[in-house]
Amino acid sequence: AVASALAGLRVVVSAGPTYEDIDPVRFIGNRSSGKMGFAVAEAAARRGAQVTLVAGPVALATPAGVRRVDVRSAAQMHAAVMAALPADIYVGAAAVADFAPAQAAASKIKKRDDRDGLVLELVRTRDILAEVAGHPQRPRMVVGFAAETDNVEGYARGKLARKRLDLIAANQVGREGGGFESDRNTLLVFGRDGSAQTLGPAGKGEVADGLLDVVERFWAASPG
Ligand code: C5P
Repeated sequence: AVASALAGLRVVVSAGPTYEDIDPVRFIGNRSSGKMGFAVAEAAARRGAQVTLVAGPVALATPAGVRRVDVRSAAQMHAAVMAALPADIYVGAAAVADFAPAQAAASKIKKRDDRDGLVLELVRTRDILAEVAGHPQRPRMVVGFAAETDNVEGYARGKLARKRLDLIAANQVGREGGGFESDRNTLLVFGRDGSAQTLGPAGKGEVADGLLDVVERFWAASPG
């Protein structure tokens, strides 16, 4: 086997959803299974990288040779990712909540006969990916994900530029042949250099390997 360019590199991967607590029994979550990020972590470890996997609440086994840090909320994921720096490569595959309750209620919110509704105040979470890309210890490569229902290329390229990424891997959600809960996926990978390629449809393991092939090509071409 040819030695991988990733051998010995420090790779941080975020995966899974985040849960934002409303009260002690309720939360706001999303449908991310974590499978794509776990597949990337597993494939990177197989190539000899030192992998830290920051995982939201998922029911998945830890891939062989991977250091796993479990978190629940976007704020915890932010702290765990920042604590994992410096790194050579960051892959943000987590479906981080964009909004969280301004504060979690200390006790269970009760229904009231005098009110038909409930207003929750939500606040923006911090954008972990954008902060990693703008960090004084910026990894040489920062890779984002984008789940889109429409205008996949337009929105993905917008995020690539706005968040100052090297690569973004976009998947179309709400369609056959991939997405959050599936074992299969199709990724459209857009590069800072204007490149584009399609990976899959294939199993998430194969797609993860394809993504790491692209990462290796960019690594070889990037300054540092
Ligand atoms: O802007 P959007 O949420 O669509 O961007 C998705 C990408 O940004 C993913 O890589 C995700 O992990 C990352 N992200 C993040 N922190 C947030 C929101 C998104 O790291 N608060």
